Amino acid sequence: MKAYFGRRYMLSASHRLNTPALTVEENRAAYGKCNNEHGHGHNYFVEVLVGGAVDAETGMVVDLMALDKTVRAQVLDRFDHADLNLDAIFADRVPTTENFCKTIFELLQDTLPAGELERVRVEETENNFFECSAKG
Ligand code: NI
Repeated sequence: MKAYFGRRYMLSASHRLNTPALTVEENRAAYGKCNNEHGHGHNYFVEVLVGGAVDAETGMVVDLMALDKTVRAQVLDRFDHADLNLDAIFADRVPTTENFCKTIFELLQDTLPAGELERVRVEETENNFFECSAKG
C-alpha cells in the first residue's frame, strides 16, 4: 500500500514576467502588470507531496527533518528573498509560477531522502495555485 506525506513551506520572492521571444508590446499584452519592469513580489506557499511505503520500523513515509533539510537546501536557501529572474535556472525560462513549480519539482525529484515526489503545488496568491506531477 502506498501512503502520502505532505508538507507546506513558505518563501518570499520577486519576479518579472518577460520573454525575449516576444516584443515589448507582446510581452505587455501577455503578462499585463506582471511585465512591469520593476518586478513584484509574492509570498509563495509550496506544498510537497511524497508517496511511498510506510517504513515498518519508523512508521513513516519520509523523515520529516530529512525532508525539511532537502527542501531548505534545494529550494528555500536558493529562492527565499531572491529575485527569480536573476537565478541561472530562469535565464532561459520565464519565471511564471508554472515554471517555478516545475523547477521546484525538478530540484526535489532526485534529491528526496525517501519516497517518490508525487506532486508540488505552489500558491502564488490566495486565488492562484499551480501544480506539477510526475505523470504527463
Ligand atoms: Ni507575480
